[in-house]
Amino acid sequence: MSIKQLDAPDASIIDRWHPALPSERLGAEPVSVEVLSVKVALFRIKGEAVAFRDLCIHRGVPLSLGRVEEDRVVCPYHGWTYDACGACVRIPAQPAGKAIPEKARVTTYRTVEQEGLIWISFGQPDGPPLSLPAFDGFRKVLCAPYEVQAAAPRVIENFLDVSHLMFVHEGLLGDPASAEIHEYRMHRTEEGLVSDEIEVYQPDADGTGKGVTNRYVYKVLGPFAAFLEKRDSADPDHVFGLLFAVLPHAEKRSTAYAVIYRNYALDTPDSVFAEFQDKLIEQDRVIVESQTPELLPLDLQAELHLVSDRASIAYRQWLKELGVSFGAE
Ligand code: FES
Ligand SMILES: [Fe+2]
Repeated sequence: MSIKQLDAPDASIIDRWHPALPSERLGAEPVSVEVLSVKVALFRIKGEAVAFRDLCIHRGVPLSLGRVEEDRVVCPYHGWTYDACGACVRIPAQPAGKAIPEKARVTTYRTVEQEGLIWISFGQPDGPPLSLPAFDGFRKVLCAPYEVQAAAPRVIENFLDVSHLMFVHEGLLGDPASAEIHEYRMHRTEEGLVSDEIEVYQPDADGTGKGVTNRYVYKVLGPFAAFLEKRDSADPDHVFGLLFAVLPHAEKRSTAYAVIYRNYALDTPDSVFAEFQDKLIEQDRVIVESQTPELLPLDLQAELHLVSDRASIAYRQWLKELGVSFGAE
């Protein structure tokens, strides 16, 4: 599918930022990543992340197979060389002094780095990828990328699903004996969708092995990005935050990125929290990959919903209003 085909129904995601790669994974070697069914080549040029369509306009070789040389991208096939703006500045086979055709350029995309990730947009985003608080005094941990063979809206909806915690994450994020969810509402704010506080008893809330009753607040920041904050009911100054952003590679194939924020247990190694997250997301992956239909149904008649599913309901309604059809039906 080309961006042109995506353009009409999914302008809302074309103009969004998508988390393409952890910043630390882009060095001297180019990286190829699929975003919304489009192959993108990422390069680091003068320290900046640069994104090209991963296709040399001469004979269609992926530019991610090439290399960066003196701040320019060199195609591996015939050595056509592109500057950081995508303009071809050298065609080795062409006689010296002959002008390079105007049309000899590759499509470039906007990039920005935030929260340890390189974000890419095919369109005209109206702000930064995320508007999150500064989290002063918090420790941040970017967890491993998580590949999921599922549609991005399914992956996000699972993240917003409070009543699965007691079953999919039994003994960790919930206890089946305390599965009842008290009534809560979702609100529309400038940040997106925000839930009321939802209390959940968690036998091991964060991997440190401590049982606590947490107050959850979910925020949907974008079609494929959400945030949750949980506060220990007994100690509300202890805050655990989790940014969860999903890159839709294709309609049914995604990579999820998780960034953990905490302002407590600062002496506990970050790996304790990251490995716990790995375990939770693996539990989620098995469930989300098993779901049918694979595309998230936006018609609320298509599945049964309870009051405890309010976050999912609000998310589906919001996607529908935005006109998001990638990964949804
Ligand atoms: S295919 Fe890239 S230079 Fe020919
Ligand atoms: Fe989960």
